[in-house]
Order: sequence, then structure tokens, then C-alpha cells
Amino acid sequence: MTQCAYVHIPFCKNKCKYCSFVSYPKQNAEVKKSYIKTLLKEIEYFYKDESLKTLYIGGGTPSLLDIEDLDSILQCFNFENNAEITIEVNPETVNFDYMQRLYAVGFNRISIGIQSLDNNILKSIGRIHDASTALQTIIAAQKAGFKNISTDFIYGLPKQTIDSFVKDLIQVVDLGIKHISLYGLKIEDGCYFYQNIPSHLPDDDMQADMYLAAIETLEKRGFSHYEISNFAIPSLESRHNMNYWSDGEYYGFGVAAHGYIGGVRYSNFCGLNEYEKDYTQKEFLRALSKKERLQETIFLGFRRGDGIDIADINEKFCIDFDKVYSTVLNKYLLTGHIIKTAQGYKLSDNGFLLSNIILADFI
Ligand SMILES: C[S@@+](CC[C@H](N)C(=O)[O-])C[C@H]1O[C@@H](n2cnc3c(N)ncnc32)[C@H](O)[C@@H]1O
Ligand code: SF4
Repeated sequence: MTQCAYVHIPFCKNKCKYCSFVSYPKQNAEVKKSYIKTLLKEIEYFYKDESLKTLYIGGGTPSLLDIEDLDSILQCFNFENNAEITIEVNPETVNFDYMQRLYAVGFNRISIGIQSLDNNILKSIGRIHDASTALQTIIAAQKAGFKNISTDFIYGLPKQTIDSFVKDLIQVVDLGIKHISLYGLKIEDGCYFYQNIPSHLPDDDMQADMYLAAIETLEKRGFSHYEISNFAIPSLESRHNMNYWSDGEYYGFGVAAHGYIGGVRYSNFCGLNEYEKDYTQKEFLRALSKKERLQETIFLGFRRGDGIDIADINEKFCIDFDKVYSTVLNKYLLTGHIIKTAQGYKLSDNGFLLSNIILADFI
């Protein structure tokens, strides 16, 4: 049964210079209304009325939509008691009244894109808000009733220092934030920075030091490093994302959304016109082979702070994990990048830094 769903809202006020996510800036109200109409039809077509444990409305910038439109999306679904219902917001697009209304229609988790609390950095990466707006947004979300608030930060930004990054994290923790997502800057095809590499980018070593400094700072303050990019005060881990990393099923609705149902991965069209023309069509619709499913389980499991569960993998895939992967396991146990746990194995902090290389070795 599929009990998690992701809904993509592909609109932004402006395009941030580092961002390659599917989002269309500066769209008018008519385009947005037409998109919502198609989205509701897609949900009605595919959703089988399961009680959802989690719903995540992400983007783009979902907070650019009217509350009535967001409410009409929520109304499409059934929810379990205490379901986790998240919306991503950009600080410049919300105020206290808007967040109070988000809470009133049923959202109980809010993820605020802060990225940095240094105004010069924010400006240089094309963010539309400043640090003070970001901090006021946190306070307004708390006043609006949200107890489960997450903040996104990027490290490795132009001119960012370890000290300024750590100071940003401490500021939001001091405000009572209990969930933080940290992403190392990635400059990929499709963003402004890809064609116009900014100067003063921290090098790989400095980016790694920022990550390690963040782990130390947050763990000292009671956060659990429960996933490679995510930190939470225990019990406030994102249940929606934990489902992804535990190989769980989920619906993906909207432009460019991905889904995973019945061992089949799929994604929707990335273009607004293509999607609106035929929202029933899926791209890359593909049943995974047993070998691919095993690789994905390893890949996703090693992202988690508690790592992979060997008994579970052995039973699911009828293998002897220790035997099949003895060479790669021994290599990284020896260097300390992989650590033995009661259930199996996990990556160490240094292992997380090299996760791409280590996981490629498994695959
Ligand atoms: C898809 S965005 C949605 C959040 C919201 N639109 C906002 O930016 O305020 C989710 C998060 O991904 C991260 N992100 C986006 N592009 C990134 C990049 N190139 N490198 C690292 N992190 C990135 C940012 O932290 C961002 O908040
Ligand atoms: S980072 Fe967020 S606000 Fe900026 S362009 Fe990407 S999706 Fe839009």
C-alpha cells in the first residue's frame, strides 16, 4: 500500500543562481491556476484513496500558491491521524497571516529555505530574501502554531567561511529550530552558476570541513545526524524522507515528480505543456530488477545515520551480505569509513564525505 505522496509545485518568484530544480520563475496567475487544475486531475486519476502517513508539497515554491489552491490539493487525500503534512516555503513569499492559514487548513510541518544568514551571500546567490526576513519567518511560523519546523542551509557558498556557516546554524537552533537540512553546494547543468562560475568558492576540503563542523555543532546541541544531509532533535525526523531512505513506496504528483510504486520507478514530464497535455503519461516507467533493488537498498540505507540492516537485506534478497560484499566492507572498515553496528553497517562522518566513492564501490 502506498501511504506517502510528494506533490511538486514548479513555480518560483525568481530563479536562484545555483538552482537546477524544475521550477519556472515569474509565471502569471493563469498559468498557476491551469497547473493546479491538471494536478488535481492527475491525483484523482492515480490516487487509490489510501490513508496517507505523509504528504510533502515541495518545489519550486509552493508558498506562491493561494491557500485555497493548497487546500484543494489537501482535500484530494485521506490522512491517518497524526499524518505528517509538509509544505516548503521561501521566506520572501510568506507572512504570519499566510502561515496561520496554512496551519488552519492542515499543514503541520513547514520547511523554510534559508540557505544562509549572510546578506552579502544571499544577494550573490540570487535569493530574494534577506537574513532578517528569514529569522522573522521562523518566529512567525512558530507563532502561527507550527511545532515541526525545518530549515534548509547550503554550505560551500561563495565567500562563505566555516565560522559564518556555524554561526548561522547556532542562530536558528537558538530560535528553537529542531530540524535542519544541510546541502553542499552543487553546481549542475541548467543553473546560472553553471555558465558563470562564481569566484571565491570554498574548495572541496573547506566544504568537507564545513560539513564536519556542522555535525559537531549540531550534535553538541542534541541533534541526531539521522541522514547524510539531515539533523533533528529525536522524534522530529522527517517521516516523509525516512520513507524514501527506507525504500518505501510513494506517489509523485505534478511536473517532474518521481514516484515509486510496486517495484516500479517513474517520473512525470518536466515541461509544463507536456505535463498538462497528458498528465497520465509517465517517463522512465521501469520495473527494477532484483539486483537494482538490492543496489538501491544499499545506496539509500547508507544515507541513513543508523545505516543498513543486514538481516533485513539477507531475507529480502536471499543473499549473505557479508560474503557478497566482503572485499569492499573490509576495505572501508579498515579505513574507518564504515562502522559495524548491532544491525549491520553505517558510514562514519568521514564516510559520509566520501559516500559517492564508497557506494560506487558497492555497485
Ligand atoms: C528545491 S529547494 C525548495 C525550497 C524553496 N524553493 C526555497 O529555496 O526556499 C530545496 C532545497 O534544496 C537546496 N538546493 C537547491 N539547489 C541546490 C544546489 N545547487 N546545491 C545545494 N543545495 C541546493 C536548497 O537548500 C533548497 O532549500
Ligand atoms: S532554490 Fe528554491 S526558490 Fe530558489 S529557484 Fe530553486 S526552487 Fe526556486
